Amino acid sequence: MLQDKIAQYTKEIEQFTPASAADVENFRLKFLVSKGIVKELFEEFKTVSSEEKRVLGKVLNEFKQLAETKFQESQTQFASAAKVHKREEEDLTLPGDGFQLGSRHPLSLVRKEIVEIFKKLGFIVAEGPEIEDDWHNFSALNFPPEHPARDMQDTFFIKKQEGNDIALRTHTSSVQVRLMEAGQPPFRAIMPGRVYRNEAISARAHCFFHQVEGLYVDENVSFADLKQTLFHFVQELYGEGTKVRFRPSYFPFTEPSAEMDISCSICKGAGCNLCKHSGWVEILGCGMVDPNVLENCGIDSKKYSGFAFGMGIERITNLKYEIKDLRLFSENDTRFLSQFETEII
Ligand code: DAH
Repeated sequence: MLQDKIAQYTKEIEQFTPASAADVENFRLKFLVSKGIVKELFEEFKTVSSEEKRVLGKVLNEFKQLAETKFQESQTQFASAAKVHKREEEDLTLPGDGFQLGSRHPLSLVRKEIVEIFKKLGFIVAEGPEIEDDWHNFSALNFPPEHPARDMQDTFFIKKQEGNDIALRTHTSSVQVRLMEAGQPPFRAIMPGRVYRNEAISARAHCFFHQVEGLYVDENVSFADLKQTLFHFVQELYGEGTKVRFRPSYFPFTEPSAEMDISCSICKGAGCNLCKHSGWVEILGCGMVDPNVLENCGIDSKKYSGFAFGMGIERITNLKYEIKDLRLFSENDTRFLSQFETEII
């Protein structure tokens, strides 16, 4: 009898207490699908007398409602249970997701290395302004008034002013002047900084780059001191056994002046593309501080002498890491920069 069946299933549904999502699914399959019990009872309903229909129509509809409500309630119960369950399953002993660490720029790494070597020799670190006047960048350093380095082609001028133009410094030698003007010898300083030149940007030239200037002024400082200091420096930076050679050169602020080469750090002197098969690469300019420069800074050139040197950090870095394009240093390409992540900080 339809009525009995409805009563029996109603009881079953009322007592249904699912223990898992699978139970809920079984409930749905049993009662609610197209071949399920609800559908079956509605089919049977069609066969009963109209007398019975009048009574059972309402009962059957209520039964259908009951089955659907029960299913929905059970389903939500297990949906939230599933979420809780998932969280419990997370393995808290697993290592966390790593985050990306920044790293020092290769130029900073090399600057630091250079500075550390000289610090151990008792050099202090000094800095000066990037916006400089003509006096500190040129005149005090013995540049004649018509020297080509003062030219518009090289220098970024900021302000023309009678006798003392303001410009972006073209070298860190200006810091020597500021240091010497501010005191009396002995001076033993290393001066890192950014410099600017009005050059077209290419693989080999840039409108800004970095230098490290060195200055040592005291009584009886000789060219031998200069050679020994720089020899020690390259042994530290490029490794024991690196050879040096000095070639006569000219700078307005040093007399005598020299350029220093080292045995090629890549081929160790055997000859390669980097050293153009000569076995040597130039790394810095140096010389004995010109007495005129000492006097310009208020230092007695009869009593004191000194040496100075200047090097490009980009050049030193290129030689150390075999970098062939200067532009890489300022493009912020992480594929380039991340190669230095493992370097000691
Ligand atoms: N200032 C020079 C330059 O920018 C480099 C230099 C050469 C600095 C010789 C010095 C030096 O102190 O003695 O090319």
